[in-house]
Amino acid sequence: MTVESVRPKDTTASAEPPVAGGAVPLLGHGWRLVRDPLAFLSQLRDHGDVVRLKLGPKTVYAVTTPALTGAVALSPDYIIAGPLWESLESLLGKEGVATANGKLHRRQRRTIQPAFRLDAIPAYGPIMAEESHALVERWRAAGGVLDITYESFRVAVRVAARCLMRGSYMDARADRICADLTTLFAGMYQRMVVPLGPLYKVPLPANREFNRALADLHVLVDEIVADRRAGGQKPDDLLTALLEAKDDNGDPIGEREIHDQVIAILTPGAETVGSTVMSLLLVLTEHPELGDKIRDEVESVVGDRPVAFEDVRKLTYTANVVTETLRLYPAVWILTRRAVADTELGGYRIPKGADLIYSPYAIQRDRRSYERNEDFDPDRWLPERSKDVPKYAMSPFSVGNRKCPSDHFSMAELTLVTAAVAHAYRFEHAAHSDARPRIGITLRPRRLMLRALAR
Ligand code: HEM
Repeated sequence: MTVESVRPKDTTASAEPPVAGGAVPLLGHGWRLVRDPLAFLSQLRDHGDVVRLKLGPKTVYAVTTPALTGAVALSPDYIIAGPLWESLESLLGKEGVATANGKLHRRQRRTIQPAFRLDAIPAYGPIMAEESHALVERWRAAGGVLDITYESFRVAVRVAARCLMRGSYMDARADRICADLTTLFAGMYQRMVVPLGPLYKVPLPANREFNRALADLHVLVDEIVADRRAGGQKPDDLLTALLEAKDDNGDPIGEREIHDQVIAILTPGAETVGSTVMSLLLVLTEHPELGDKIRDEVESVVGDRPVAFEDVRKLTYTANVVTETLRLYPAVWILTRRAVADTELGGYRIPKGADLIYSPYAIQRDRRSYERNEDFDPDRWLPERSKDVPKYAMSPFSVGNRKCPSDHFSMAELTLVTAAVAHAYRFEHAAHSDARPRIGITLRPRRLMLRALAR
């Protein structure tokens, strides 16, 4: 399907997109976005391919079809900017790859890309496998009820930090990074849904704790960089790539940029993988038959030895469970862009400066793209069936110049973790487990308290 083919027939390029239904005076659609954003975004396509939303006095353009979201992601007319990004800058810095645009962003992508290339991933394999098996052992030793939020974020931080900033010093620091990020993610969520700047400057215990975690994360990153420099080693990893990077004049990049880059890569990496591990464990809890099939696949591919990175490409069923989890529970559930020129999208006029949003969650659950769209069906990713999925209807890592650099890295990690834990355990909810979605910077189950039952 092309962008052209979804252009509405009765509009011209100068037409304004329709306003979505359900706005109320003053708040517009804001109240629905706050009250139940997933349901609200999921029905917007019924109103049009592009629709206008009123958020208080502001107009935001929501893009609702796979083809048009692909067009936005691939077009140079839309950049990373807008309120979501501004609120993230306090954490991610202004000079990191996740928030930079234009020439700076292109140079930064060239620097970090080699660390994430497909042929770089096997070198991370032993760490990913070690961390997956350590998780299995840790749960055996813990017995009882597991706090899956903590466990999932812990493994995500450890894998990202140990693979991308190698060094034995990392083992202890990974736990500190993990504790800081847990505090920061919770605080950022609050700051996003209740954007009352001055409130967060009041010296309340929660604000002090947020500021302490933020300061400690910055100290940690400085320590890691200083240690690496003092040691004089140059392992083939992301940190070396950053320390050796040159700017457009051929001079080394500044300290601030190195610092912001480390944070801008580690933070989204931990938050997205941690959220997805939680969703995967929820899926395994609610569909025990999937775990049984994964166990069978692991046994037939691997035999008696522990599952290793080299097995990943043969664990096709396990990988399809991961993919289906990313379809129904995309950690990055909403994306925003800003138009830098007067443009046209699907036959509608988009003015320069307009903020756009689109939702991988809504796109990936749309009944127009998927049969039995709400069912968890890993087999829809078998080659003979996946070819029917419309282009851009499954882009949990996005496409275009902002596409996640870590798609191969993340798929390998998630497949290994899933294979190792489903091979060892079945799961059941314990008291106080709350599987309802928590909609924050990322999408994940609210609070999972699980019992891991040895197979
Ligand atoms: C960007 C998803 C894991 C680092 C993105 C974007 C998406 C995404 C959708 C694009 C954002 C946009 O278009 O505005 C995911 C998912 C993950 C994952 C679903 C795992 C399940 C990771 C990991 C890392 C990482 C493990 C690093 C260790 C980044 C960075 C960017 C990014 C640095 C910014 C890229 C740029 O703007 O050029 N991710 N991500 N991600 N991701 Fe990931």
